[in-house]
Amino acid sequence: MRDLCVIPGDGIGREVVPVAVAVLEKLLPGLRLHEADAGWECFQRCGASVPDATLELLRGCGAGLFGAVSSPSHPVEGYRSAILTLRQRLGLNLNLRPVRAWPVVSPRAGVDLLILRENSEGLYSGREHWEADGVAIAERVISRAACTRLALSAAAIARQRQARRITLVHKANVLPLTCGLFRDTCRDVLATEGWSDVLDERLVDVAALQLVERPEAFDMLVTSNLFGDILSDLASHWGGGLGMAPSLNLGEGVALAEPVHGSAPDIAGRGRANPLAAILSAALLLRHHWRNEDAAQRIERAVESFLREEGHLDFAAETTRLIGEGVLQRL
Ligand code: NAI
Ligand code: MG
Repeated sequence: MRDLCVIPGDGIGREVVPVAVAVLEKLLPGLRLHEADAGWECFQRCGASVPDATLELLRGCGAGLFGAVSSPSHPVEGYRSAILTLRQRLGLNLNLRPVRAWPVVSPRAGVDLLILRENSEGLYSGREHWEADGVAIAERVISRAACTRLALSAAAIARQRQARRITLVHKANVLPLTCGLFRDTCRDVLATEGWSDVLDERLVDVAALQLVERPEAFDMLVTSNLFGDILSDLASHWGGGLGMAPSLNLGEGVALAEPVHGSAPDIAGRGRANPLAAILSAALLLRHHWRNEDAAQRIERAVESFLREEGHLDFAAETTRLIGEGVLQRL
């Protein structure tokens, strides 16, 4: 019997998560669902963006599905983004962000890449302060321990995926200490794990250009937190955009599936959100956490056949419901 902690969050998170849950329920009869609160509205209601009860529930279940949360882009006393809090408090060190070409919605065939993003430190470590009036400082934390964990996970996933290329993405020419430590640690670990032959590296700016010019040349990209965040939104274009971009946060004994997109306030509440990013995130949970490759592929095949047959239709006002039904029918 499996337990799933369901955290819809804010905005379209509440619309797409129930669709992904319905898909999982169909594939895993007896799945036990535990709903938990997090996000901006949760903070306004109870003063915490991630209540302790949510952390406990997620730890207890070992698996979660997270929608999206809103975060104000100005400082709010006591508030920190719920997803960043969850990643840090639960030690979700790794974020998997695959991008592949899908029928109809992808602008180009042949793309099939995976971005592995370090998820717990870098520029997102939350260390920002005022040094003087008009001078703000953000500290970028890179540790050998986190890089080692990232590279070991990359090696395991490379075996599973039979990686043909692993590209370390950094900016060690400008940030020789932090990016240098990242690059050297990842390179050593991946070499020890037997991946020297397919290992290469790119500076992040060139990597961005090459992801635009020739995305099919990449297979796995391994990078730090901010670079991974930016490059994965960029690369999601080749999969059909943010509405198609899934991710999985992984840590010791806990996994949290999460569409890459945010709460999309511009379309929230109108039934227009694409639920496929959330559905494909559920497939990642099946593949990498519950080790149910068969069920993961059933989801991906259903999505593929839905897009081939219906992907050209303009669902307008009923996008979420119609896509959800179309995928469920094909499972
Ligand atoms: P966003 O991802 O919410 O939206 C960007 C654009 O993509 C919008 O035009 C939106 O309508 C569209 N879009 C996103 N997901 C879609 C879907 N499933 N179907 C159709 N269209 C979709 O990013 P934005 O606008 O920068 O941020 C909005 C809020 O979300 C902010 O408060 C931000 O802090 C938060 N955010 C939360 C994230 C998370 O919870 N993991 C990640 C990114 C942003
Ligand atoms: Mg992002």
